[in-house]
Amino acid sequence: MTLVRIAVLVSGGGTNLQALLDALQHSKTARVTQVISSRAAAGALDRARQARLPTAVLQDPGDAAELLATLGDADLVVLAGYLKLVPAAVVARFPCRMINIHPALLPAFGGPGMYGRRVHEAVLASGARVSGATVHYVDEQYDRGPIIAQAKVRVVADDTPATLATRVLTAEHRLLVRVVLELVRRGLPGEPIRLEDVHDD
Ligand code: GRF
Repeated sequence: MTLVRIAVLVSGGGTNLQALLDALQHSKTARVTQVISSRAAAGALDRARQARLPTAVLQDPGDAAELLATLGDADLVVLAGYLKLVPAAVVARFPCRMINIHPALLPAFGGPGMYGRRVHEAVLASGARVSGATVHYVDEQYDRGPIIAQAKVRVVADDTPATLATRVLTAEHRLLVRVVLELVRRGLPGEPIRLEDVHDD
């Protein structure tokens, strides 16, 4: 089994990146080989440097040529708190090999502008009793590609956006690791996979 090289795209604090780094620490089959950020100030870059990983900051996240050149020989691309649209030419180069983690149960509460706190505010405003996390394949639109797996998290009466976000983030970390490990175990299949949903609370 050749080593699966994983490139992680980030924009924020990098807790999903960290979950992946921790889970793959002793793996012989997969490794995070680089961390690419849409912003120089992303805390995720500090986590990457602590792990002695190559890092890059995109000058223009909308530039397909720059992103493709930076991705180089990555086998799997993981968007982990990445807030930019991936250019279609880049999506096309990673069929079934580019995934995203979203802090809600897509297709609800997804799409342009639905990230971070706004997602949880919308969930609470809707009166939904369940929220959670989704890992899906990336396509040319925000949060729209085929779903791979979801983890459900109960919404409780006194939840605030912050308390819900905290519980969902924990579920995200577990779900992202589970999906990456399963994709690697199956040898990065060329057809979409769908794992059974879990209740994460
Ligand atoms: C998380 O809610 C994640 O789902 C979203 O960005 C937030 C921060 O993620 N995509 P991280 O801590 O930077 O991984």
